[in-house]
Amino acid sequence: MKRFDSIDEVRALIAEWHEAGGTVALVPTMGNLHKGHMSLVARAAGEADHVVVSIFVNPTQFGPNEDYEDYPRSLDADSRRLSQAGVDLLFAPSVETMYPDGADVATTVNVPGLSDVLEGEHRPGHFEGVTSVVCRLLNICNPDVAVFGQKDYQQFAILKRMAADLQLPVRLVAEPTEREQNGLAMSSRNGYLDDDQQQTATAIYKSLQQAQTELLDGARDYPELERAAEASIKAAGLSPEYVAIREVGDLSQPGPDSTDLVVLTAARLGKVRLIDNLIVTL
Ligand code: PAF
Repeated sequence: MKRFDSIDEVRALIAEWHEAGGTVALVPTMGNLHKGHMSLVARAAGEADHVVVSIFVNPTQFGPNEDYEDYPRSLDADSRRLSQAGVDLLFAPSVETMYPDGADVATTVNVPGLSDVLEGEHRPGHFEGVTSVVCRLLNICNPDVAVFGQKDYQQFAILKRMAADLQLPVRLVAEPTEREQNGLAMSSRNGYLDDDQQQTATAIYKSLQQAQTELLDGARDYPELERAAEASIKAAGLSPEYVAIREVGDLSQPGPDSTDLVVLTAARLGKVRLIDNLIVTL
């Protein structure tokens, strides 16, 4: 596996692959890789001839009181893991490489509307940071396909909209969420939780499953289902920020005849903020 931190080297190698008729899949990550990331890598390998993984802890998507400084960084271990998984190229740029004139004066990409609800309401500016960095990564790597995790459902919906609106010549795919045996969605931030907290956090997925069961049984009072799921997350000892039942794709409010739904939630446990979602097809 090649490991580059310079944009020119990445561009040259990927251009070589394309000239030889190969296709390229990109998996953008912030590192501290776990099984969930590795499932994205496996999906990427099934989608294209060459797999590129980027590791970049992007400062512009963290709020002022969030964990940018403390975000777990494990580049050498990640690099070994990716190499063993058969990844062709690891792009691990510095902040200076990605934002040569400073992140605060860099051009941004904003997807209005979708970026302002749910996660966007609780993390102002977060999605602008995500879309701005992913747009750069796509321009640098020029992949045929880019793979993201379904755990960040709203992020994926926003990135799809960005790619469509900006006519980016790339196909975006989402890979289903990997879960611990107890149902907890895998996340780099789970490492902040002790064993008891990991057990408590399983209430998130259980509440989503409960909402799913009720929807499948015919319940259509969405606000009531959201309230019930929030109450059971709270009863388990977490602080729910929201539970929302929305249309898949554009995250609009569902109607009584909607058939493709997603139940999304965010909850706090101590200083850790966790998100999860479940797609429900009626
Ligand atoms: O999902 C993530 O890990 C990040 O938001 C991403 C897509 C790598 C952009 O920094």
